[in-house]
Amino acid sequence: MNGDVGEMIGDLKSYLEYLKGLGITELPLLGDGDDKVYSSEASGSAGAIHESLRSYGTPDLSHSEAQHLEAIRSELGNCQRCKLHRTRRTIVFGEGNEKARLMLIGEGPGNDEDVQGRPFVGKAGQLLTKILQSIGVDREEVYIANIIKCRPPQNRNPEPDEIETCYPFLLKQIQAIRPRIICALGTFSAQTLLRTDVKITALRGKAYDFSGIQLFPTYHPAYLLRNPEKKREVWEDMKQIAKALADDGR
Ligand code: URA
Repeated sequence: MNGDVGEMIGDLKSYLEYLKGLGITELPLLGDGDDKVYSSEASGSAGAIHESLRSYGTPDLSHSEAQHLEAIRSELGNCQRCKLHRTRRTIVFGEGNEKARLMLIGEGPGNDEDVQGRPFVGKAGQLLTKILQSIGVDREEVYIANIIKCRPPQNRNPEPDEIETCYPFLLKQIQAIRPRIICALGTFSAQTLLRTDVKITALRGKAYDFSGIQLFPTYHPAYLLRNPEKKREVWEDMKQIAKALADDGR
């Protein structure tokens, strides 16, 4: 058999296994939807956000400055630095392997996360766990955090002042963990970390440099729940992440 055809069949087989792992037994149709529901594009606030983060410039993630995660957590305390403290139930600091090579960064806690105090524990979180499994990564191996640590009321988009207040803590977490790869989940995370207002459809599929860390943007799992035809693109992004992890081979 021609090598290229063999490779294509192997790729198709692993894609079908990935879909099966995600609970999909029928092939998705191609669609042209955008990340509209789970994104700031709908309200247009993400543009203002990266403006407000300009003062951070390129974050300095050198090890000499790094604090331990516990120290960062205690510095955060019972945070009341922004208005979200009035409506949140629990601070969702982030969780996972403090020596993770892969760090995933979402937008902010939803209702389930607000109740449990843990990131990505609802339906989107379950899908995220399966997506990770599809590239042979256990949830326990990675570190998961969000751009903001408190749930916005009615799951509205985070506002620039909320992000500006919370972002330094996320940067400290990244500095403490020093992952080799960051996966930015969804428009909001990708646009905030990359300080851009380019749409996720254009951002995904490529690696970016985030202070020496490879950053891969992809669609948010909550968006995938509503737009299953986008799973193919997430699969492509996940394969790039798996390859980057293998190439790094630390
Ligand atoms: N969506 C996010 O962006 N983060 C979570 O923790 C849960 C849902």
